[in-house]
Amino acid sequence: MEKQSVQMLEFPQKGDGRGQLVIVEGGVDIPFDIKRIFYIYGSDSEVVRGQHANKRTEFVLINVSGQSKVRVKDGRGNEAIFALNRPHTGIYLPKMVWKDMYDFSEGSVLLCLASEHYDTEEYIRDYDKFVELISGGQG
Ligand code: TYD
Repeated sequence: MEKQSVQMLEFPQKGDGRGQLVIVEGGVDIPFDIKRIFYIYGSDSEVVRGQHANKRTEFVLINVSGQSKVRVKDGRGNEAIFALNRPHTGIYLPKMVWKDMYDFSEGSVLLCLASEHYDTEEYIRDYDKFVELISGGQG
């Protein structure tokens, strides 16, 4: 699968009388191999999470239960808001985009698939620094 820009993805579902089964295969349904998963629950509508960019890691975020929103900024003045509100859709986030996750509904479980193991050094947590790196062409 080719590398892509920020976009919503729809995953294959196998539904039958027993319920739904959603399939997410690394390198097939998402454009990277999955090295790490983590999930976020217990956040509420007041909380803003994320607030960082990553130098190397790509993510796919799926609200497997409940809802949340993701605000994405490219550091060049463009931003977009995506609603994560269906368990068979997700958002693909390439490296070097700023993301805020917020407006978590009660019972929200936000599943995050990542292309890299955790490395605090590749997280950019200062927005001005992020803009500087983007304008310096290092993104
Ligand atoms: P944080 O980056 O604040 O989460 P979010 O961006 O989703 O709001 O991470 C919270 C804490 O968990 C922080 O101490 C770093 C740690 N952490 C790991 O150890 N491994 C991981 O894969 C992630 C995502 C976070």
